[in-house]
Amino acid sequence: MCGIVGYVGERECADVLVDGLKKLEYRGYDSAGIAVFENGKIVVEKSKGKLQDLVDKMAKEKKPEGHCGIGHTRWATHGEPSDINSHPHGNKRVSIVHNGIIENYKEIKDFLLDQGYGFESETDTETVAKLLDYYYNGNPIETIGKVIDKVNGSYALGILFRDFPGVLYAVRKDSPLIIGVGENENFIASDVPAILKYTNKYILLEKNEIATIKEDSVLITNEEGKVIEKEINEADWTMDAAEKGGYEHFMLKEINEQPNAIKTTITPRIQDGMPYLEESGLTKEMLKSFRRIYIVACGTAMHAGLVGKYVIEKLARVEVTVDIASEFRYRNPLITKDDLVILISQSGETADTYAALKLAKERGATTASVVNVKGSTIARESDIVIYTHAGPEISVASTKAYSVQLSIMYLLAFELAYVKGEISEERCRKLTQALVEIPEKLEEVLKLKERCQFIASRLINSESLLYIGRGLDYALSMEGSLKLKEISYIHSESYAAGELKHGTISLVTEDMPVIAVATQSDLLEKTVSNIKEVKSRGAKVTMICTEDVDIEKDIANHLVKIPKIYDELTPLLVAIPMQYIAYYTAVLKGCDVDQPRNLAKSVTVE
Ligand code: AGP
Ligand code: GLU
Repeated sequence: MCGIVGYVGERECADVLVDGLKKLEYRGYDSAGIAVFENGKIVVEKSKGKLQDLVDKMAKEKKPEGHCGIGHTRWATHGEPSDINSHPHGNKRVSIVHNGIIENYKEIKDFLLDQGYGFESETDTETVAKLLDYYYNGNPIETIGKVIDKVNGSYALGILFRDFPGVLYAVRKDSPLIIGVGENENFIASDVPAILKYTNKYILLEKNEIATIKEDSVLITNEEGKVIEKEINEADWTMDAAEKGGYEHFMLKEINEQPNAIKTTITPRIQDGMPYLEESGLTKEMLKSFRRIYIVACGTAMHAGLVGKYVIEKLARVEVTVDIASEFRYRNPLITKDDLVILISQSGETADTYAALKLAKERGATTASVVNVKGSTIARESDIVIYTHAGPEISVASTKAYSVQLSIMYLLAFELAYVKGEISEERCRKLTQALVEIPEKLEEVLKLKERCQFIASRLINSESLLYIGRGLDYALSMEGSLKLKEISYIHSESYAAGELKHGTISLVTEDMPVIAVATQSDLLEKTVSNIKEVKSRGAKVTMICTEDVDIEKDIANHLVKIPKIYDELTPLLVAIPMQYIAYYTAVLKGCDVDQPRNLAKSVTVE
């Protein structure tokens, strides 16, 4: 969702806030704004549009001067993107920036209207700002305590009180917020990349802990003002990890980082040639004890879970149910204390996935999360966390996170299959070794760039296309379809290849390109038949297959051939051509690849 920053120290605050917001723009970019203490007053500059629009506005008009302030880059939930709905919100006495959703904002607004308050914006956030003003009694911590007692929903708040120039306040519940700890300067931010330029030291704020932040001190208290001691963490991300590193887009950089991301993720989980998830707390005894496994996630993370399902059920013969988190949490799932619920989330902050975690815990299941952002909410609240080590994933379109999530699914499938006696030690070793060799194979697959660019050039004028496959290839086609549509804005639909004839094939004409994923040897013949079906109706077909298959001439208009490895592991290779095709289609269409319209990197609201 949105990005929040705050600063107090000796530097020019506005510059630091803009810097931090630049690193958080991937979280939302409908509008941006800052509020800075200037000569004892809170000066606010904000505008609809990208952060650069705000920077240009301040350069033309006025950049607030001071050393303490807050900033926000928005992903609108209540009130369209506009100048007036931009954050910060407040009045002369208080100013706030907010990430999250205030569920009872209407009730609060009605109460405040009765108290004579006026509202300029349509946002839920403004009601919190005015409630802070209403309860303000000269003691910010007490005031904040009263407000959070009244507010339902999710929030990460950066707060300024006019009577306390040079002091930053912060409080959070269900939305992420960290406190950056520097030398005679301190920060707040929604995510670590915003502070890396200045410090890699940070404090994790827990639910409803209130931070009082000055340039030389950070005080954490509860609502009653009782001091809470907190440890200082050190981010293992470097500054340039959050930079493009010479690539045109973060997405292209992150596509190319996949070999290394997989290597750093699997290496600590392989011991003596065998999968070893015990380091995360998931012991062999636990693995053997589970009745069934649920995998719950959103978007690309859910697609990784689907691959996990196919491989775990094929090798370990354990039933796996994969759910979209926003569905899972409302379908009263039949979870018991004997089940394992796996939450997959790159950000570790996705609201629906977090809600699914809470539901699973309420039902007594064992929860294990596969998360890329250390210290994130889902990671902190799961019984077991298996961190992926992909480094910061900035581009909204998830690529390296998908690959490392798959890697963990494979290790889990191999270890589970072995401990349940479904595969021999020898087979487990061979599969694990094949996984170890994937990064090297990926270096070969990355050379398919030009081929994929060419295929992309054939797609850019399409209105709509189909991504098809069977079995694992069907799970892959879902990810390929999502990648393509979310950044190129071409409508794309993933379809089970065997299901086409039951209706959807009526859509197929020469104007409907089809991308067929056909890597599973036991299903190849069937998928080839489906390719012939769509081709005979005029579709231009791109076929992604392994290099060993003997393909009839002209079976497809374009072929993408990947190295032959175990069928189960081909998703790790197919991911790259699918990502490349999406990326180059978006680039050729002139789309904003890293910040597609209407999207945000982490959806921390429902
Ligand atoms: C994928 O390209 C999208 N950005 C989106 O579907 C994403 O995978 C989804 O929002 C889940 O995010 P998470 O992994 O941070 O929970
Ligand atoms: N709900 C607030 C708004 O719509 C904050 C949204 C966000 O988290 O970006 O402005």
